[in-house]
Amino acid sequence: MKKLKLGYVMAINMFKGGVGKSTLTQLMADVLSAMGFKVLVIDVDPQGTVTKKFQRQYDLEVIGKMTLFDAVISMSFLGSITNIKENLDIVIGSEQMSRFTKVLRDMWRSTGFSDEGEEIFWNLFNYMINNDDLRSQYDFVLFDTIPTVSEFTDNVYVASDFLVIPTQTEQDSIDNLHSTVNNYRTAVKEVNSNLEILGIVPYLVDTRLKTGKELLIELQEEYGDMVYSNVVNDKGVVRRWGREGLDKSIPHSKKTYQMYVNIVVETLERLEKVTGEKLLN
Ligand SMILES: Nc1ncnc2c1ncn2[C@@H]1O[C@H](COP(=O)(O)OP(=O)(O)OP(=O)(O)O)[C@@H](O)[C@H]1O
Ligand SMILES: [Mg+2]
Repeated sequence: MKKLKLGYVMAINMFKGGVGKSTLTQLMADVLSAMGFKVLVIDVDPQGTVTKKFQRQYDLEVIGKMTLFDAVISMSFLGSITNIKENLDIVIGSEQMSRFTKVLRDMWRSTGFSDEGEEIFWNLFNYMINNDDLRSQYDFVLFDTIPTVSEFTDNVYVASDFLVIPTQTEQDSIDNLHSTVNNYRTAVKEVNSNLEILGIVPYLVDTRLKTGKELLIELQEEYGDMVYSNVVNDKGVVRRWGREGLDKSIPHSKKTYQMYVNIVVETLERLEKVTGEKLLN
């Protein structure tokens, strides 16, 4: 029997701030939904960056809406799903998620700190996705994450099928990439043996600078096929989208948007390879 939806759960994650995780999540969601895939974005960041981006872009009304924090408290995403546009939904981020660790601990305490109860600590998002049967309702569930090793990341790693890792071609980012990949390897050993790195997206590559070029080559030498062949360049227009919303009438927007379309197409090609599923026409 044909599956109703693809049901891929994907995390955009990297242990460094400001490398473009939220922007990549927003644009991947936008492109995938425009291609006809049904997409849910889950905004894990207490700062709600990706939520704010969609707010600016689509005049998304968030006041009075149920958020990720409400979802966590009720242990279900279903009451906290807000529609953005055709094929695109979001679980809105919440400042209250800064209390996530405490909430998880309280849930664990309510089980008398039992061993089974401890599962909640690492497994809550996974439990919610399965219990809500989100995989049969969405082609893609995309987690926008925060750049730390924490209960947030652990929960996302347990719940996800695939990781997409954006990295800048700067020495600091490459160092953080190593910790991200090491943490992934530990996660595979200890909590989710099915988790796969779909790829590393070289981000904000300024190929005019020698260092950027050299580091991109180093990255390709070290990680081989894991590195996307498409890259995301540093484009001023992306910062303008951040302020004014994605508007294709802003000069250079179409070309810049195409850069993200290419990343999505390569993502689908990579998924086809891993899953054997036909995703592109
Ligand atoms: N391709 C790009 N060209 C130029 N600027 C970009 C590009 N992509 C993202 N930016 C800018 O870089 C900054 C950081 O991006 P973003 O918020 O997506 O990163 P992040 O990794 O999610 O950060 P955080 O770790 O704080 O969540 C933002 O100001 C964004 O507008
Ligand atoms: Mg972010």
